[in-house]
Amino acid sequence: MNQGNWNLETVHGEIFRLEKLSCSPFIAAQIMKVLEKSNPSTTDLAKWISLDQVLTARILKLANSHYYGYSKHISTLNLAIITITREKALNALSPDVVTELTTAIAELELDDDAPVIALTGAGDKAFVAGADIAAMRDMNPMEAVAFSEMGANLCQAMETSSKTYIAAVNGFALGGGCEVALACDFVYASTKAKLGQPEVKLGIIPGFGGTQRLPRVIGLGPALELLATGRHVKADEALRLGLVNHVYAADQLLPEARKLADTIAANGPIAVRYAMEAALKGRSLPMDEALWYEANLFGLISSTADMKEGMRAFLEKRKAEFRDE
Ligand code: CAA
Repeated sequence: MNQGNWNLETVHGEIFRLEKLSCSPFIAAQIMKVLEKSNPSTTDLAKWISLDQVLTARILKLANSHYYGYSKHISTLNLAIITITREKALNALSPDVVTELTTAIAELELDDDAPVIALTGAGDKAFVAGADIAAMRDMNPMEAVAFSEMGANLCQAMETSSKTYIAAVNGFALGGGCEVALACDFVYASTKAKLGQPEVKLGIIPGFGGTQRLPRVIGLGPALELLATGRHVKADEALRLGLVNHVYAADQLLPEARKLADTIAANGPIAVRYAMEAALKGRSLPMDEALWYEANLFGLISSTADMKEGMRAFLEKRKAEFRDE
């Protein structure tokens, strides 16, 4: 999480949103992350962010009871950042964390200000080191099925979202962590990222969609090798395999995600959604049906005001002003 971009103005911006969202625990958690260095008392915090003490106490309580928070980069209004904050366990996905992430994603789905969402891990060591092994150890088969479905639903929600997801892989992305990254539209990795599906080393298989998405993303041969060996892949090899889109220095991951968000936000929003939807849905369709699907979306988008604006702007040699209509 790039704390450098936060200041009091940002906190006020988030408070405004917080009120709109009836004190979302995720924003509360993020505010606390911003303020945690000074560890303020409820009274100081209330004074600082101009809120009444009851609401501030609630923020503190909510913030302290959650594993992760999300923040939005408000200077451009284009990017929301979800930071999984469970650093002690290398951001491992317990059932609670999966539930909270699923809620955050559903909440952001309704946020018109953030077409692009970056997902990253707290600390400098891990994106997500996998599903929580301690939690899984005692699961019976039915509980394991339910947990697998929870993770799969989380990944499916990201993949089918109208938003664009970027995994900012700032360290280990193993097992469930790699699966969450695979469900994102783009994967940006830091130079020290390590990705892989090491489940077989634990005597289990991937349970959040890895056996299906990995071959679709990097091809069957390389995927089978990673699934069967469980070996970790460093950033440069991950780039060669097509498992990640770009590799950057760790401190450039979120700035690069912001640049991507701004680039995407300058395009026709419906066009971005449809182009990505056609590509993703088409993957599981026979070619003739996939082309038919694309043609229909092409027809549908020709009915939008943004299509007219985009073409008019080109012919008038000016920048298009899209309105998501
Ligand atoms: N679940 C729970 N706790 C985890 C964890 C995980 N997936 N990964 C790391 N941790 C915990 C460790 O137990 C340790 O906790 P303590 O300090 O309390 O002992 C802490 O995080 C730090 O980890 P390490 O001491 O192991 O750190 P390291 O630098 O020596 O090694 C690592 C880092 C290589 C990532 C190593 O932690 C590791 O191999 N983790 C497990 C990776 C893994 O197997 N992931 C797949 C999980 S199964 C899965 O995800 C199934 C699925 O698809 C649903």
